[in-house]
Amino acid sequence: MPPILILIGFMGSGKTAVGKSVALNLGWTFEDADELIEKDQGMSISQIFQQRGEAAFRRIEEEAVLKLLDEAAGGAQGVVVSLGGGAVTNAMVLERLKPEPLVALLDADLETAFARAQNGKRPLARDPERFRELYIEREKLYHGVAKVMVDTRGKSVEKVTAEIIGRLKEGTSSN
Ligand code: S3P
Repeated sequence: MPPILILIGFMGSGKTAVGKSVALNLGWTFEDADELIEKDQGMSISQIFQQRGEAAFRRIEEEAVLKLLDEAAGGAQGVVVSLGGGAVTNAMVLERLKPEPLVALLDADLETAFARAQNGKRPLARDPERFRELYIEREKLYHGVAKVMVDTRGKSVEKVTAEIIGRLKEGTSSN
């Protein structure tokens, strides 16, 4: 089976930027669950939330993430997969992540995450109080399923990339 690095973490923790950078450095492919959902549905995440509601988005997300992970496992090449920040709230996704050895949590502080999440594309990042509540609610879920934790506070994408690659190499050399 090819190695699959799965990036989890809150909105604005840098999963997409870091995921692309790690993939580029390792010569692996990069897959972003939200991007695939947007392509499949022919509309943006915001439009899905607006027109169909969050519950419908979560069902679409469950299916997309499970399919993405199955496809990655069946491929020939290493893959970096970035999951939307709320994917871990789904029981099926959590179960699927439990046996995966390379689930990496990108940990960001609330203020940085909120500032980074203000690109108008995140329906759950509009209200700061709601954002804070979700941040607190999700923390346990992320920590419960992550095998690798990376503190991104004050670090550039390059630095986080180097740390993740270092951790992957440590893991493989000790096997
Ligand atoms: C969400 C995170 C988003 C996206 C959607 C919902 C969440 O992805 O899936 O807006 O519930 O945390 P990012 O974590 O990539 O921003």
